[in-house]
Amino acid sequence: MKRSVKDLVNLKGKVILLRADFNVPLDGAGRIMDLNRVNESIPTIKYLIGQGAKVVILSHLGRPKGYEIRASLWQISLILMKRLNTKVYFSNKVIGPEVKERIRSMKNGDVLLLENVRFYEEETACDMKFAREIASYGDLYVNDAFGCSHRKHASTYGLARVLPNAVGLLVEKETMVLTDAMENPKRPFVAIIGGVKVPDKIKILKKFVDVADTILIGGAMAYTFMLAKGIAVGESLTYLDCVQVASDILQYAKDKGKKILLPIDHVIVHKNAQRQRKVVVDNMEEDMMGMDIGPKTIKMFGEEIARAGQIIWNGPMGLYEQDKFKEGTLKLAEVVANSKAYSIVGGGDSVSAIKLAKCEDKINFLSTGGGATLKFIEDGSLCCIDVIQEKIR
Ligand code: 3PG
Repeated sequence: MKRSVKDLVNLKGKVILLRADFNVPLDGAGRIMDLNRVNESIPTIKYLIGQGAKVVILSHLGRPKGYEIRASLWQISLILMKRLNTKVYFSNKVIGPEVKERIRSMKNGDVLLLENVRFYEEETACDMKFAREIASYGDLYVNDAFGCSHRKHASTYGLARVLPNAVGLLVEKETMVLTDAMENPKRPFVAIIGGVKVPDKIKILKKFVDVADTILIGGAMAYTFMLAKGIAVGESLTYLDCVQVASDILQYAKDKGKKILLPIDHVIVHKNAQRQRKVVVDNMEEDMMGMDIGPKTIKMFGEEIARAGQIIWNGPMGLYEQDKFKEGTLKLAEVVANSKAYSIVGGGDSVSAIKLAKCEDKINFLSTGGGATLKFIEDGSLCCIDVIQEKIR
């Protein structure tokens, strides 16, 4: 078990370098669309303030190439201020004499948010000189950035290597819930996988075949699997280099007696049509592009979900961002929310869909991770959590 922030003693007056994941979704105008990650980071920050520590927070936002105003963490500092009901100072730099001085002048219980750490190329390169410089400003390092704990970067991994450390309350909660779900699932365990990031997600399916009882595949992921089964997918989005892996997974599931269900009808558009009208079909023809699962599939998936003891859902069932193609994802969200099963939803898109369907209160656990949640389910750990010291018993 990893050392928790609650195991750290004598925090009064200590400078804690806290890595949070404030990588929130932004709309085209740079407005924040969802604050789940910020909200979930509050308990650890409050705990540290309560202990009289000086809390210096690091995070990234987006994948900027150098400074980009859209990716500044400035607006996050204003939100933190509201949530914490205390002043939150903001530094537009991460390193340098001004930052050092700013931290030196902090009082016990003060909170300082540093600018987007990815404005420095040393961050993603996990440059240890950069990490050591930041480390020299603090006494202890706390990792509460579950969402990016699969990234070996300077502020997620490098700092942990050079400072005494612990995990924060969010990382503790995420690892506990996901470990329990994978090691002691309530059965039948139904895994639902969708979305477009097929190459990233295909490996996790093997893990689900090992642990889950039934796997429901929707979204763009389904078309690659349909192709592997020789089913026509028209012009739908497929990943040809994943077809063999998909075929291997289908065979692996068959050998293990596990059920993988693919959509049986589809909401499509005709690729070359002038007006892209929404049409529902059972079989796809050459110029058709699948955009969502159809009503028969919703019913079939719904019946599996209704029987489930536990559900893990990652990835939407279609292009839910567009009104015409949101029905499959939103209906499934309602079914998951209303089922008696213990439900876990992970991944930015799935969590947004749950919120769009206004059923977040009925989901047992909304994970803050996207890729990190998948990696954790796959491997049972993440590199930036592994590097944290073990709890002293
Ligand atoms: C995420 O949103 O999954 C994490 O914050 C990591 O972000 P990244 O994929 O840009 O590294």
